[in-house]
Amino acid sequence: MAADSDAIGALSTMCALSDVLGDTVIGDATVPAGAATNEVAGDDAADDDMVERYEVRCALGEGGMGHIDLLWDSDLRRDLAVKRLRKELRSDQTLLRQFLWEARVTASLDHPNVVPVHDLGVTPRGDVFFTMKYVRGKSLAEVIDRLRAHDADTEAAMSLARRLRLFLQLCQAVAFAHSRGVLHRDLKPANIMLGSHGELLLMDWGLAMSLPDSELADLAGELPERSGPSGTPLYMPPEQIDGAELDQRADVYSLGVILYELVALQPPFSGKSVGDIWHQVQAGEGKPLAEVVPQVSPSLAAVVANAMASDREQRYATATELLEDVERVIDGRTPLAEDVSLARKVARYAVHQDPRLASVRPYEIDLMYGGGLIAGAGIGGLVASHIAGWEVAMLVVGALMGMPFLIRWLRTLGER
Ligand SMILES: Nc1ncnc2c1ncn2[C@@H]1O[C@H](COP(=O)(O)OP(=O)(O)O)[C@@H](O)[C@H]1O
Ligand SMILES: [Mg+2]
Repeated sequence: MAADSDAIGALSTMCALSDVLGDTVIGDATVPAGAATNEVAGDDAADDDMVERYEVRCALGEGGMGHIDLLWDSDLRRDLAVKRLRKELRSDQTLLRQFLWEARVTASLDHPNVVPVHDLGVTPRGDVFFTMKYVRGKSLAEVIDRLRAHDADTEAAMSLARRLRLFLQLCQAVAFAHSRGVLHRDLKPANIMLGSHGELLLMDWGLAMSLPDSELADLAGELPERSGPSGTPLYMPPEQIDGAELDQRADVYSLGVILYELVALQPPFSGKSVGDIWHQVQAGEGKPLAEVVPQVSPSLAAVVANAMASDREQRYATATELLEDVERVIDGRTPLAEDVSLARKVARYAVHQDPRLASVRPYEIDLMYGGGLIAGAGIGGLVASHIAGWEVAMLVVGALMGMPFLIRWLRTLGER
């Protein structure tokens, strides 16, 4: 896959420091750094311009586009989180439309693992804001940081098994959004929060995009075209870097990088600039998971490798397929990524041609494959018995029926 060297060049000049690799890039604008943090201060934190019903309490976090404050709702007497564009960005009409879209698309995704939006409004000074559930918890990025620092409490609470189960909740949120025709496009640990009841909430739908023909396509139609790739360098698939047309598999790739990080507690790529990272992503040159975590199970490593395949044809076609394979790993069964039969490869190609086929289950594929094999062997046997007698026919039937076993045996010999 050819690198979009112009875009990479432009971006590497704009942000040539490794500490911005986890920040969101929107088209040709590099939004300033802002990690998940509670130590937000400065002008924005003191920004208490708000409608009467709400009282701004303190800053909760800051990202590339917006800042988030804790709000007291005096009517319903409860805490809320409010998101507003960063002060210096509020007059930018393009970002404002993007912000409105974020509020509306998030509000349209009514799912237990998507942060609920409660209100969209304008402050007395004319700034747009939206309120959402106040998540009393940490971002997944903070949890990974603590695990990497060997924080004893976090290690006790967040075993690998627990992290994998949380990942299933993330896949459910993403699969639901896809079923509504929405891609997230900025999946990363900083945009995922863990609530105090063990729930995972997918946040920050600022870069979300609607797929053609989705119910939300009209709403998204108002969004301005942006030149250059958008996303977060460490989590973007090659096709997103290339600015190609995206489908669900772009989010599947980012999920793969998150899964890698949940296991290895570090991202698969490292480099000094965005350009460095993107060259590695496009060449598929991430550090193999088994090298970073030698004790990782081959099944889990195969699932991560499949989700992160540079060529999207080789990736899981949907977030649900990835979810089901992680479930297989958790249950101690063999994931499809480790055992991709010819029949399933053909099925994956067929799904790519016609996405409606995605609802065909793997065992149905196996049944069809088995049926086809028996029918093929029967017909082959009949033809052979007419031409060369029943002894040859038996040989033909045996050879045809035994072929898959022979291929499988030869493959295991090759792997030894
Ligand atoms: N509903 C919320 N409750 C509590 N904290 C939040 C909430 N939404 C965001 N935050 C905090 O703010 C940070 C940035 O939020 P995010 O929506 O990702 O903003 P941006 O679009 O600017 O990246 C999050 O990482 C988190 O720490
Ligand atoms: Mg964010």
